[in-house]
Amino acid sequence: MPEQIEKIRQQALSDIGRCRSEKELENVRHKYLGRQDGQLTAILRQVSRLPEDQRQATGSLANRTRAEVEQAWQKKKAGIVNAGATQAGYFDITVPGTKPATGHLHPLTRIRLEVQEIFKSMGFMVQEGNELTDLYYNFLSLNFPENHPAMDSYDTFFIKEDPKQKIELEKRQVMRAHTSNMQVRIMEKNKPPLKVIVPGRCFRNEATDASHDHTFHQIEGFVVDENISIANLVYTQKVLLSKIFGQEVKVRLRPGYFPFVEPGFELDCSCIICGGQGCSVCKRTGWVELIPCGMIHPKVLESAGYPQGKYTGFAFGMGWSRLAMMKYEIDDIRLFMGGDLRFLQQF
Ligand code: PHE
Repeated sequence: MPEQIEKIRQQALSDIGRCRSEKELENVRHKYLGRQDGQLTAILRQVSRLPEDQRQATGSLANRTRAEVEQAWQKKKAGIVNAGATQAGYFDITVPGTKPATGHLHPLTRIRLEVQEIFKSMGFMVQEGNELTDLYYNFLSLNFPENHPAMDSYDTFFIKEDPKQKIELEKRQVMRAHTSNMQVRIMEKNKPPLKVIVPGRCFRNEATDASHDHTFHQIEGFVVDENISIANLVYTQKVLLSKIFGQEVKVRLRPGYFPFVEPGFELDCSCIICGGQGCSVCKRTGWVELIPCGMIHPKVLESAGYPQGKYTGFAFGMGWSRLAMMKYEIDDIRLFMGGDLRFLQQF
């Protein structure tokens, strides 16, 4: 009988080794370990009928063999199941992964950061400001007399008031129509020498078109100290624009009217698209109107509480959206706030 057991053992192990599927494995199990007619099961059954002197040795051989076959069978089964799983969930670790979509800076933010860096290098501080303001800071402190028609050109959004409440004119709440609303507010809190820029959103009740939107962006700037002159103003703008556009630009001043500057100017920049030759962007003039500016009106310095005659200064209100339009050759201001990803993803 031991020879017979050894024969079954070898055969069983080689049958197990040849199995390629779970089904084949099941058949092998049946053939050797099956409860009814498995070959090893049959051997074990016969052991009890052996003569006394053979029973123990043969019994334990049969039992060891059964355990060995059982173990080989389990091992093979685990191998086949695993191989199947790997095949089903197969992946090639050398294939580059899917890149998660990441956001990036809005074109206006990029321009703002660039402008801030340039001004910081010239010693300016950067301040944010109130978008909700009152008539005092938006107009009256800036030398707009009460009910002055110049206020009309700012198409200001007024905040709805309770008609039962009597609110003083200068306390009426408005959405700021320009970043100049921060001039006096900042001057009140700081003594000259003062060099500040204020980037921010402004709001006007505009009929929107390619160059006007109800929400737009400005960067206000001002300098107050003793002996500040128009030359300082011109130089500052020339440095800024040359750095932003990455080329030496020319600037020129034309007279402009704003109640809070005297004299007031429109500062033009030589057209960077055509280099001053004349094109559709500069309307064939070679110049692009970019920065309203001027010397701060003494009345504004007075609103700030500065001693009369001690200081002078200049101020400017850059069209931040305009600057981005020029730099990136964007032809419609409404794209900035439109939230259209086809536009934004180009930056
Ligand atoms: N605040 C003005 C505007 O929005 C621009 C400006 C700012 C002009 C500073 C002169 C000086 O129209």
